[in-house]
Amino acid sequence: MSADPAKPAENPDPAVYADLPAPRLGDRSLFPELEARAYLNHAAISPPSSIIRRTLTDCVDHYARRGVAGFFEYSQQRERLRADLAALLGASSPATIALTSGTTAGIVAIALCYPWKLGDRVVLFDGEFPANITPWQRAAELFHLRPKMLPLSDYLEDPARGLQRLEGTLRGGGVRVVAVSQVQFRSGLRMPVEEIGALCRKYGAELFVDAIQGCGATPLDVDAADVDYLACGGHKHLMAVEGAGFLYIREGRAAALRPNVAGWLSHEHAIDFLIHGEGHLRYDRPIRGTADFVEAGGYNALGHAALGAGVKVTLGLGVAAIHEHANHYNDALEAGLVERGFTSLRARAAAGRSTILSVRPPAGRDVVALHHALGAQGIACTIPDGRLRFAPHWPNDVAEVTVVLEAVDAALAESAS
Ligand SMILES: Cc1ncc(COP(=O)(O)O)c(C=O)c1O
Repeated sequence: MSADPAKPAENPDPAVYADLPAPRLGDRSLFPELEARAYLNHAAISPPSSIIRRTLTDCVDHYARRGVAGFFEYSQQRERLRADLAALLGASSPATIALTSGTTAGIVAIALCYPWKLGDRVVLFDGEFPANITPWQRAAELFHLRPKMLPLSDYLEDPARGLQRLEGTLRGGGVRVVAVSQVQFRSGLRMPVEEIGALCRKYGAELFVDAIQGCGATPLDVDAADVDYLACGGHKHLMAVEGAGFLYIREGRAAALRPNVAGWLSHEHAIDFLIHGEGHLRYDRPIRGTADFVEAGGYNALGHAALGAGVKVTLGLGVAAIHEHANHYNDALEAGLVERGFTSLRARAAAGRSTILSVRPPAGRDVVALHHALGAQGIACTIPDGRLRFAPHWPNDVAEVTVVLEAVDAALAESAS
């Protein structure tokens, strides 16, 4: 990029990291300072790779040189990001994508903007991450909805039973929205989103998906699955940073939403008054009828630049290949853990698997103590709601499993003493 203010800057482009090693499955050389011996927390927060770090410095350097001009130049980067996200999701067009601050922002937007009618039902699942519950509860109170909570345990034990129960609820009438995560944060269960989508269509309901535990590592095609709305953040399996995410709204749906989260940037020709001279300052411009009406105010330029790089890396490696790679890792880790008395919560059928492997410790072993002992040995994992959760991703090499299992043996020995 040119540092000469007289010359127009080039558009920010991933070419800025062309000298770095190419991302490769099983290779963590793009994470030179990562401390953990095995970093298995991609379902929590992914560490930024050298590509993400370079993208962030490049963005801030760009703004340092260009000031407000950076806004317009990074607007072009945002348009490329929308196109890449649409490609990642199998969405019909980049106009279905809004850039947000994360999953919660997308869920709140749909919960508050949905054209609810008094007494409408919204189906939720008991055991979901609270991000996909609270906004619907708030909407229920504000718009006098009747939320219906269905158990997730059905799907863990027998997905067909879960679908049957859902169909029973849908048949009862009044359901406008079914809100579900693509992948469950505790168990790693990949929900049968396609089947849930088909049931929603059959009974005239709409499907909302929280995709943050899947997107980037577990395939999902929004058209094939009849997804109407999908929210995601960038700091987990898309391996970007916190505070930047996106919302997908199926083509034709955005105009039917009530723009209850609109702000100054939600209007058509929102910035004309800043660039076209006097007489353009108006407060009556229509709110855009596209997904990006939820982009209400100033953007997270840095976060979305990082998300752009994360999505490019993901597309380059391929979600199906990443999924297969992480499952190969989990096959080895699961076998070793089961041998040591852990109970695996991983679905037996491949269709129910994400890239998360959650286990329960052997009887009498305290999960908090085990987690602590593993952390002390450089094994980064988490314990959401008392499950020991491992989430490998493309940089993890299956050879690392030996190191993890040795640490597990040491942790078990320590907790027995
Ligand atoms: C399923 C699910 N949804 C949402 C979130 C978090 O959302 P946000 O990034 O908006 O805080 C998490 C975080 O762990 C999650 O597991």
